[in-house]
Amino acid sequence: MKQEMMEIVNQVELAPRIFEMTLRGDLTQEMVTPGQFIHIRVPREDLLLRRPISLAEVNHGDKTCKIIYRVEGDGTKVFSECQIGDKLDCLGPLGNGFDIEMVEKDDVVYVIGGGIGVPPLYELGRRLKEKGATIYFLNGFASKDVMYYEEEFSALGQLHIATDDGSYGVKGHVGMLIDKVKPVTGEPKAIFACGAPGLLRAVETTFIDHPHVYLSMEERMACGVGACYACVCQSKKDPKVNKKVCDEGPIFKAGDVII
Ligand code: FAD
Ligand code: FES
Repeated sequence: MKQEMMEIVNQVELAPRIFEMTLRGDLTQEMVTPGQFIHIRVPREDLLLRRPISLAEVNHGDKTCKIIYRVEGDGTKVFSECQIGDKLDCLGPLGNGFDIEMVEKDDVVYVIGGGIGVPPLYELGRRLKEKGATIYFLNGFASKDVMYYEEEFSALGQLHIATDDGSYGVKGHVGMLIDKVKPVTGEPKAIFACGAPGLLRAVETTFIDHPHVYLSMEERMACGVGACYACVCQSKKDPKVNKKVCDEGPIFKAGDVII
């Protein structure tokens, strides 16, 4: 983990309130595991806490990484107003990231994302493709307007999309996409998911006895490095035991924590 003033080299609005920002700096060389995040200081004095944002793409060659974020409150609004050439104070990479050790060439894997949980799955997809996996991306969005990265995901594997309002792809949630592809693929070797708690619970329930189901959790964070206990969730085996999402997660095996 390092701290660096990373330079903004690009910023585009992919969809209403959803931005893709490209950052450049030596910190990129530390970013080796998909599913990790960076903790970014908001360049406004009254906003004291850093904001955690997942790494959506990492390119060691030109020392750049991309993040995709949705404007929610003041912090992300300030990020969206930053200009090319500005620098952001970034701490990272943080968190454990996805374990893809067990994935081998030609293995079928499902990568399941919902809404603003989709970004870290793009870098994950790139790594899985490097390993020669056959990837099924099952992405859910509220509507066609807030969809992004259709071409990018399609270049890595087979992309299936669901929208809540039926404005694109299958009408409904990602559970329906699982029902659609599973009869074709059979049991996948591994399942990786990131999204709202409802999506994660549905994935956990669908693949209840599967040995390789990995879920990316989100909790409000303060320090981001395991020191303050702001981000805890409960262990499923013993609810008296707390797990820190920022450093024991954000990725947990299904069944490890209460979602
Ligand atoms: P406010 O609501 O004003 O935030 C107030 C405080 O609450 C801040 O400290 C903020 O960090 C915290 N907070 C608010 N919502 C969340 C949340 N959902 N999770 C954690 N803390 C929150 N969002 C993206 O758009 N793209 C991503 O790739 C992304 N990756 C994330 C990865 C991790 C590991 C976590 C924990 C969260 C991620 N988020 C991501 C959510 C993002 O951190 C929040 O949307 C953002 O911090 C909101 O800040 P704000 O000032 O705009 O909103
Ligand atoms: Fe401080 Fe996780 S945010 S321990």
